[in-house]
Amino acid sequence: MAEDQASPSGPDLTQGVALADLAGGWLVGHVGKDEVLLVRTGTELFAVGAHCSHYHGPLADGVVAGETVRCPWYHACFDLRSGEAIRAPALSPVDCWMVEQHNGQIFVRERREQTKPRPAPVTKSVGRIVIVGGGAAGFAAAEMLRRREFGGNIVMLSQDAAPPVDRPNLSKDYLAGAAPEDWLPLRSDAFYAENDIELQLDA
Ligand SMILES: Cc1cc2nc3c(=O)[nH]c(=O)nc-3n(C[C@H](O)[C@H](O)[C@H](O)COP(=O)(O)OP(=O)(O)OC[C@H]3O[C@@H](n4cnc5c(N)ncnc54)[C@H](O)[C@@H]3O)c2cc1C
Ligand code: FES
Repeated sequence: MAEDQASPSGPDLTQGVALADLAGGWLVGHVGKDEVLLVRTGTELFAVGAHCSHYHGPLADGVVAGETVRCPWYHACFDLRSGEAIRAPALSPVDCWMVEQHNGQIFVRERREQTKPRPAPVTKSVGRIVIVGGGAAGFAAAEMLRRREFGGNIVMLSQDAAPPVDRPNLSKDYLAGAAPEDWLPLRSDAFYAENDIELQLDA
């Protein structure tokens, strides 16, 4: 779906904003060209990318719950501490920035390195996982197992002729001719080889 490429809005967070401006819990500002969501939960402060990594939904219009933020569009959920995508349909994390507080002013500093997600709670005795289905759910299972360092074999069996695609797009921007065909795959063909996922189509 088409992404909103509006220029960054809100205050320059590198110059600082007053803690009192965060009375509502969060606000959107920018760091260079990046729009950043600054969130206060209890005594903690977090700065993450202001747009969902799925279809660029505005996270500031979503819901902050504990140390997570939910996208208002299709409810992808991100960990505010790590940026990790912890609920579908997002597959990629959002960026995170360092935050400092001095004398009632909050400053957003440099972008943080992406932290690795926790290893999967799968015992080492599991040598192979077979996933039946090559839709969004099957794909997310395979992708998350690898992201969380499952080291065994992953086999995906799909009755489809094509690798996992973004089905909602089929009846929206793609159908309207506004999205090119290469937006449809959830990941490129190379992804499966690079992540050692054996994808069996027409299976
Ligand atoms: C045109 C279209 C538009 C949509 N738009 C939206 C939308 O806007 N918003 C929204 O929330 N949802 C939308 N949906 C629904 C959304 O795409 C589905 O909820 C989602 O795809 C479900 O994912 P899934 O992986 O559970 O199942 P599916 O995507 O249905 O995947 C099932 C997989 O299992 C495989 N399979 C089934 N039986 C077997 C078998 N016996 N052996 C091997 N493989 C098998 C199939 O080949 C397929 O790969 C849309 C769906 C379509 C088709
Ligand atoms: S844009 Fe956020 S869930 Fe799709």
